[in-house]
Amino acid sequence: MHTMAVDIGGTKIAIGICDEDDSIIRSWTIPTPKEAEDIDKHIAATYAEAKKSYSDIAAIGISAAGNIKEDRRTVTFSANIPAWIEYDLSGHIEDLIDREVPVIVENDANCAGWGEYVHGAGQGHTNMVALTVGTGLGGAIVLNGQLYRGSFGMAAELGHIPMVPDGDFCGCGLRGCAERYTSGNALERFARSAIRRRPEDAKRLLELCNGDIDELRGKMVSQAAKEGDALGLYAFNKIGEWLGRTMASISAVLDPDIYVIGGGVVAVGDILLDPARAAYKRFLQASAYRSHADIVPATAGQDAGLIGAANLALR
Ligand code: BGC
Ligand code: NA
Ligand code: ZN
Repeated sequence: MHTMAVDIGGTKIAIGICDEDDSIIRSWTIPTPKEAEDIDKHIAATYAEAKKSYSDIAAIGISAAGNIKEDRRTVTFSANIPAWIEYDLSGHIEDLIDREVPVIVENDANCAGWGEYVHGAGQGHTNMVALTVGTGLGGAIVLNGQLYRGSFGMAAELGHIPMVPDGDFCGCGLRGCAERYTSGNALERFARSAIRRRPEDAKRLLELCNGDIDELRGKMVSQAAKEGDALGLYAFNKIGEWLGRTMASISAVLDPDIYVIGGGVVAVGDILLDPARAAYKRFLQASAYRSHADIVPATAGQDAGLIGAANLALR
């Protein structure tokens, strides 16, 4: 038996055929089409192609950035794909594949976090929170070994915990959300503002972006920080500190035993996690009188989302 897993991101769609252990045995990647209908068509066409080699595909599991209803079919809102307002993603794809297999939709960070729980850094833990530090900040909550979706499917939107009253405008329409201060975007913003304030320390970052601050990307900030560059380290200290504050807030509600931190920027390791651990300790309630959660990097890698989507589709 096989599963088809699909990870729909803002820039690319990754599709994998997974075996019974959630291992990816074949994969495809294409740029994300602009129109929602073209996304549906592409997934249906890939399913038709995959079926020729794998006749026993039991389900299609989709990982999508946005709010997914408790029916695990409908995207109610997505900052990435504006057409996905109350969009029955499962229904549209099932229509195109003659309802041969069920299509199950899950939030992208829930998929990646669940992938970490079953095959990565979260294995064996009881209560896990996973945070994906990417373009935005995604969250997944596992309580007593179960993915927690909430009453309406909207739980674990941890990137939109309000952190700063009347703070920066967020893509979700609110202000001061955690992802405005901890994300790949936030890293670039902190680095850019540091370059403007401290041009005398900005030599390396300006070199990496060829003198064009608007072209500065998270990867460049990571490289500079790994070389010991002061401004690169400053930007990581900032997002790390906000990450720690956010985890302290989450612990006040959920008290997990482990935080698994994923996403591209976590490749710098302790450059991000040390300031996060320090702030977590500082802002945690009754900090000196309680056990502290471990804060560890994700280990399932880039494929965590596909692996999690495949595994969840059969649950
Ligand atoms: C969205 C989440 C998503 C996360 C990571 C957030 O801005 O609200 O639904 O999981 O970004 O992509
Ligand atoms: Na989530
Ligand atoms: Zn928000």
